[in-house]
Amino acid sequence: MTAAPTRIAVNGADPYEVVVGAGVIGELVPALGADVHRVAVLHAAPLTEVATRVRSDLEAAGLSVTSILVPDGEAAKTIDFAAGCWSELGRAGFTRTDAVVTIGGGATTDVGGFVAATWLRGVPVVHVPTTLLGMVDAAVGGKTGINTAEGKNLVGSFHPPAGVLCDLDTLTTLPTVDYVAGLAEVVKAGFIADTRILELVEADPTGATRPDGPHSRELIERAIRVKAAVVGGDLREKNVAGSPVSREVLNYGHTLGHAIEKIEDYRWRHGEAVSIGMVFAAELARLDGRLDDDAVARHRAVLTSVGLPLSYGGGRWDELLAAMKVDKKARADRLRFVVLDAIGTPAALEGPEPAMLEAAFHAVSA
Ligand SMILES: NC(=O)c1ccc[n+]([C@@H]2O[C@H](COP(=O)([O-])OP(=O)(O)OC[C@H]3O[C@@H](n4cnc5c(N)ncnc54)[C@H](O)[C@@H]3O)[C@@H](O)[C@H]2O)c1
Ligand SMILES: [Zn+2]
Repeated sequence: MTAAPTRIAVNGADPYEVVVGAGVIGELVPALGADVHRVAVLHAAPLTEVATRVRSDLEAAGLSVTSILVPDGEAAKTIDFAAGCWSELGRAGFTRTDAVVTIGGGATTDVGGFVAATWLRGVPVVHVPTTLLGMVDAAVGGKTGINTAEGKNLVGSFHPPAGVLCDLDTLTTLPTVDYVAGLAEVVKAGFIADTRILELVEADPTGATRPDGPHSRELIERAIRVKAAVVGGDLREKNVAGSPVSREVLNYGHTLGHAIEKIEDYRWRHGEAVSIGMVFAAELARLDGRLDDDAVARHRAVLTSVGLPLSYGGGRWDELLAAMKVDKKARADRLRFVVLDAIGTPAALEGPEPAMLEAAFHAVSA
């Protein structure tokens, strides 16, 4: 028997639901609502079969469908591809009562969300994320964007989706390395908020690396709840180190992670860079007297148990430091890190001493 879908509310000015379960892609027609007449389905190549089935479902419901194949990976997130989509929408006569559907990983949901945000200043979009990262992170929260020659995600817009359908069946074709990279964000949600996630990974690390693992659905749902609570503002009441929880906590491990991705010319998987970044942040917190040895060891144990990397072998500290300083989250040249005061209790570390940063980097250098 298949478990009933789980519905996670994302609050805010435009609330919506994230539906999680096997086969939930079948809810696409109701998720689009009765006002929609035309639908553009943007899909990544590995999802062609899924997109074809979706197309017949939509057509059977009387909707007119434009299918758009998205180039693989980051090649999707370009102004040229977005412009091609705008032309297709124009040719199909898309109006404000029509909608975009994305089926793919974070690259597809990002560019599809951007096209929906910009067409006629915004038409509805429903995301069907098909990577673990897409489900627990990219498709939830309303950030959309494309890259420019100068950097990643420099152009974009906030455009909350009308709904998000996380169909767990789609994960069966996802390569394990991609699934495991997405687990870095799940584990991140465990460190910053829901420590039960860490216990579930610790109970069965091998199972955690597979979408059909005994706790996988719960892990996915818990990670989505953390993201939904942060972006929906539900955690605003809970004080963290005297200040409200902001979206910034989602950046745990990302300051060094983004720097690694950048100096490695984006050939690394995001989650692998973030994994090292979380160990770095834990070492920083230990040096700052916030975390004890056991908490830092727990970072290493959980991440390595699912096959995520703990150290960076490339050296190049000066380049990484320079990259961290231009990361868009740095404020006025003062480096700022999300760290933990305890497992599950995030805080901000403002302007750490250069020697402390270097010592933390030394601890994550292979
Ligand atoms: N908007 C946000 O808040 C947010 C948050 C995190 C990440 N992102 C963005 O997400 C992107 C990364 O997302 P990603 O890791 O999902 O990468 P991706 O979208 O590039 O997908 C990774 C690869 O897996 C393939 N794929 C996707 N689903 C599959 C499936 N079910 N079976 C087989 N293959 C499949 C894709 O075609 C691609 O080749 C980045 O561009 C990042 O900037 C956005
Ligand atoms: Zn991330």
